[in-house]
Amino acid sequence: KMDMKEEEIMDYPKLIEEALLARDYAYTPYSHFKVGAALLGKSGALYRGCNVESCSYGPTNCAERTAVFKAVSEGEREFQAIAIVGGPEGEKAPLEHTAFPCGVCRQVLAEFCSMDFPVIVARSPEDYEVYTLGELLPKAFTPSSL
Ligand code: THU
Repeated sequence: KMDMKEEEIMDYPKLIEEALLARDYAYTPYSHFKVGAALLGKSGALYRGCNVESCSYGPTNCAERTAVFKAVSEGEREFQAIAIVGGPEGEKAPLEHTAFPCGVCRQVLAEFCSMDFPVIVARSPEDYEVYTLGELLPKAFTPSSL
């Protein structure tokens, strides 16, 4: 878990609100599990992402990667924090579920973010935990590993 100093700089509840808005657009006719992410760029720009499923299942894109790819494709490669919310279709905030990023999304975050990057997993703007990327992806293979 992160210390309070980092949290004072960024408005985590606002980022969680954005992730909840992103979740409303999740396209999930197969899993009916809706995930939203809000990624804050170093520039201050905000990138929302939701999961987008495919009838072929494999091409499904997670909310976190949607947000990262939106940002990178618009020229932003450095980030301050990501907030993630997820739960079954009918659930509204405060969510019962806590959606942690999948392994593939952790790896994609590690491409652009350092190990002290804050990952906020939330149920509502008032109810969340903050982990560092390093806690979620220890001993990571990163660009500097090559
Ligand atoms: N999902 C995400 O969007 N992010 C995660 O980190 C975990 C899984 C999505 C993928 C799929 O559309 C649904 O949740 C069920 O796995």
